[in-house]
Amino acid sequence: MVLTPTQRALLGLLADGEFHSGAELGQTLGVSRAAIWKALGKLEALELPLERARRHGYRIAGGIDLHDAAAIRAGLGDAARDLLRDIRVLEVVDSTNEQAKRAADALNGGGICYLAECQTGGRGRLGRHWVSPFARNLYLTVAWEFDGGIAVVEGLSLAVGVAVRRALAAVGVIDIGLKWPNDLLRAGHKLGGILIEVIGDPQGLCRVITGIGINVAMPAAAARAIDQPWRDLSDCGVSRDRLAVALLDQLLPLLHGFPERGFRAYRGEWEAAHVHQGRPVRIGTGSRATDGIARGVNDRGALALECADGLRFIGGGEVSLREVS
Ligand code: BTN
Repeated sequence: MVLTPTQRALLGLLADGEFHSGAELGQTLGVSRAAIWKALGKLEALELPLERARRHGYRIAGGIDLHDAAAIRAGLGDAARDLLRDIRVLEVVDSTNEQAKRAADALNGGGICYLAECQTGGRGRLGRHWVSPFARNLYLTVAWEFDGGIAVVEGLSLAVGVAVRRALAAVGVIDIGLKWPNDLLRAGHKLGGILIEVIGDPQGLCRVITGIGINVAMPAAAARAIDQPWRDLSDCGVSRDRLAVALLDQLLPLLHGFPERGFRAYRGEWEAAHVHQGRPVRIGTGSRATDGIARGVNDRGALALECADGLRFIGGGEVSLREVS
């Protein structure tokens, strides 16, 4: 779904959370009241908390925190600004990762960032759906090219976890734990996650699509679709743009320097934030489950699991981990 210029301008006017009469909105946007009604109907389809009150007009209760690509670019530090080739804010997209993959042929090195106000087909690890309501949470993907094949990006997803944790600390959120391979936890509950997809030549030029989702102000209605305990940042007063700036400030230099530095440069910090370090865990499910004590990770990002028959190293891929008693 693509918003028309009128719908987009209407959203901008209603973003302040105040009441606006239909006449005022029509006059400001230079369209008829009927056109305003029609546009409002379309905005309702985005499941925004749109209210109509007689004599007051319309408002979006609580306002909305829309992204502004120019403001994000202007807020970046020098290193990230030099590495960012393009930033695009999409209002409604299936998935920012899918969008990045569709445009991958034009990457030319990388440094392209996609942000979305909402995703209709947001994806998580293990084929899960990622709940992505309009203008409430952060949905960000950065596309980057690496020469040297898939071996160069080993451990990258864990390093990105460290970068996201640093970004959150930079905006004042310091209570973030990491769960292997790349979940972000707050008070032990899921705050966000990372979905890395690699396309291209496994021995040569790889395109790495790094998607990050963070719950910022999850509405209760949308949260009903989440199948695990979750947290957001609604008590922290962090805007989505400020968070995007902090993420890009960490992520772009990380991607740039990763072929040289590798995960080993992030390993100690990752282990220090690991919520299951030294704890009994189960990897996988059913007959394919393996129990052991989590003993950290190696330089490739594989989990070191102390099992009855010795130490085993488990690669990230499509496996899940949970704590056992
Ligand atoms: C997980 O923990 O399962 C990973 C979640 C990753 C979600 C982000 S939101 C931006 C990007 N687009 C997607 O469809 N997924 C990632």
